Amino acid sequence: MKRILVIHGPNLNLLGERDPKHYGNDTFESINNQIVSRAERKDFSCDIFQSNFEGAIIDKLHEARNVYDGVILNAGAYTHYSYAIRDAIEAIKIPVIEVHLSNIAARDEFRNKSVIAPVCKGSIAGFGKASYFLAIEALFEVFGGEEGWGLAKK
Ligand code: DQA
Repeated sequence: MKRILVIHGPNLNLLGERDPKHYGNDTFESINNQIVSRAERKDFSCDIFQSNFEGAIIDKLHEARNVYDGVILNAGAYTHYSYAIRDAIEAIKIPVIEVHLSNIAARDEFRNKSVIAPVCKGSIAGFGKASYFLAIEALFEVFGGEEGWGLAKK
């Protein structure tokens, strides 16, 4: 069984109350339940972690390298400027999929740039909570997919 970790960055704990136009109406808890159930359908075990602190996210990424087969990361606003998170992703040799609920390319200019994108396996943005579900599908493919051909880890 593959083990995956979903990391939510700052302010994502407020999903359900925060800016529903961009982030939808589902609560944080409800989205997490849906993520876990989607992961189970792929036979993945799935843990969820959320922090509003950059260092805590970095510690979790380091920890993940020995425990999980892949990570789904919504780094929130850190996406746009955290070189420290970028370096942590680069340092760990497991695939990290970048996720955003909103389409960061279609919003404020400062959100257009992701400093983590170049070190992630790939990025999914703009599909609301389904961005997380699509990231689970992406990891399924990375791990081998139906045909078992797999994609390079990094
Ligand atoms: C976000 C987009 C970021 O720009 C923002 O700071 C967030 C959420 C998203 O999921 O759309 O906190 O990562």
